[in-house]
Amino acid sequence: MEMKIGVITGGGDCPGLNAVLRAVVKTAIRKYNFDVIGFRDGYRGLVKNDYVPLTESSVSGILDRGGTILGSSNKDNPFKFKIEKNGVVEERDMSERVVENLCVHEIDAMVFIGGDGTLTSARDFSNMGVKVIGVPKTIDNDLNCTETTFGFSTAVETATDAIDKLHSTAESHHRVMLLEVMGRNAGWIALHAGLAGGADVILIPEIPYDIDSVISSLKRRKNLGKNFSIVVVAEGAKPVGGDVVVSKIVADSPDPVRLGGVGNKVAADIERLSGIETRITVLGHLQRGGRPNAFDRVLSTRFGVAAVDLVNEGKFGRMVCLKGAEISSVPIGDAVGSLKLVNYCGEMVSIAKSIGIQFGDE
Ligand code: F6P
Repeated sequence: MEMKIGVITGGGDCPGLNAVLRAVVKTAIRKYNFDVIGFRDGYRGLVKNDYVPLTESSVSGILDRGGTILGSSNKDNPFKFKIEKNGVVEERDMSERVVENLCVHEIDAMVFIGGDGTLTSARDFSNMGVKVIGVPKTIDNDLNCTETTFGFSTAVETATDAIDKLHSTAESHHRVMLLEVMGRNAGWIALHAGLAGGADVILIPEIPYDIDSVISSLKRRKNLGKNFSIVVVAEGAKPVGGDVVVSKIVADSPDPVRLGGVGNKVAADIERLSGIETRITVLGHLQRGGRPNAFDRVLSTRFGVAAVDLVNEGKFGRMVCLKGAEISSVPIGDAVGSLKLVNYCGEMVSIAKSIGIQFGDE
């Protein structure tokens, strides 16, 4: 074997992870005669040396499978790894242990498939001298330096399908139907699914909403003879001068805040202040599960191949990305640290406003 590559899938899972793993393993073995091993459950496997050799047969039949055959975790930061000792949980820097494990396996390069958290640690390992390549993953589409992350398109398709279904029942019962979607502090899923599904109101974190403005737009529609409305709310949406709704604090997670519940608040406010019957659906983890769509399968495959090509070229410390229609790469450090948010004066919001979609800001 020429080289040995290690790979992990870290953070919240999303459709397309298996397609990336398949492309990494096939390219490594077929094109370069490299060996590949996978570490289980994201950084946890690297710290605990929990691994599995990956061969062509390990990745056979997984292109269309949701989730990740390696497992994942959005709780483990190797630089602040939580360890329980005598019932007390303490944080320890386990990065040296990870480097030791990589040496034991004689791993020449690591491919980290993940979002902001996973890739921030990947950058830190790169700074420690580990040869690192990043692959941008997340349904939230909030990573900088790439047109899109894989997983986002499938999540948008799932949310769009939900809006289509809500449309017909909204129309039958003359109701407001509200859909809460994921996305953390970014409104990409809500914006794209809302546009694709023909929403009347879209509330996103980047544009704080005024509930009176939302209600005026719903009443305007009613006065025009439209007997139903569709409202899409991103989980990170917040009212002007107000804050996000937190559904849960996951104490042992590096990013402990889990958002959720703003949809219930908006639905209750609409019904109370307008008298229009309103129902709420929270789409939740359905957006993360299931088969990747064709776009995500293709993008994941392109990312996986490009990651191994970078290893072969010795271009480390980089994240593969989509630039325009082309696959390219950037220093990992450029992609992490801040989130890619919806530009509230950008083209997408302007397009939506042109066709009458309301954001609760006017
Ligand atoms: O980052 C992906 C994501 O699905 C977010 O959209 C959501 O806020 C979060 O993860 C949910 O995390 P968990 O799976 O820990 O509930």
